[in-house]
Amino acid sequence: MTTSSSRKGLFVTLEGGEGSGKTTQAGFAAAFLEKMGYKALVTREPGGTQLGAQIRAMVLSPDNGHLDAIAELFLYEADRAQHIARLIVPALEKGMAVVCDRFYDATVVYQGRARGLGAEKVDALHRQWFSFVRPDITLLFDLPAQVGLERAINRVQGHDPEGRFEQEALVFHEKVRQGYLDLAKDNPGRFCIIDAAKDQEAVRLDVEKALAGFLNQKPGPKPLG
Ligand code: TMP
Repeated sequence: MTTSSSRKGLFVTLEGGEGSGKTTQAGFAAAFLEKMGYKALVTREPGGTQLGAQIRAMVLSPDNGHLDAIAELFLYEADRAQHIARLIVPALEKGMAVVCDRFYDATVVYQGRARGLGAEKVDALHRQWFSFVRPDITLLFDLPAQVGLERAINRVQGHDPEGRFEQEALVFHEKVRQGYLDLAKDNPGRFCIIDAAKDQEAVRLDVEKALAGFLNQKPGPKPLG
């Protein structure tokens, strides 16, 4: 992270398509960072704050299938604004490691690329308001869209109150995967691609390796704890 607001802390984001296992790995990443001396906070988007939990219910409910793409974009941005102001920046200012399950790359990819609103426009929106908060490292959990989607669908039996994106066609999820891979290519210093098709333990080890590699070459202050 290059911002004054977060220079003391560490901001790690986890990204990937449906069923990539990143939520489980977020807990493992936090445990590893705690071992490295950080106080860690695991959070997510959407839904990291009280307001965010309400927004999450709205954007993920299959009952809102009619949601306009631009309305969807601004709901995610509203969730993020609250999250940055109330949770992320205060934690980073205290020197904590913030492990965030999705951040603005998700908006660039899902709304910008897969929904077709334009990655540049979504990126510009973020830069305009939130350029002071950028991840130090982004772990991209990559696997074929079909495999991830099957995992995600099998995880829930019957009606899923958060299943709006699982209902999208495979082509949507393929755009998401490609969008993330393109972002990783454009930002090689920040992104680290993890093969999420491996089993959970192997992925955990790869996550630890990526974080350890990052911490070893990270200049500047070390954790306060
Ligand atoms: P989750 O599955 O990681 O909990 O994420 C919830 C869904 O929200 C997932 O399908 C991706 C989607 N999403 C967006 O479309 N745009 C965003 O900005 C974020 C953060 C998530």
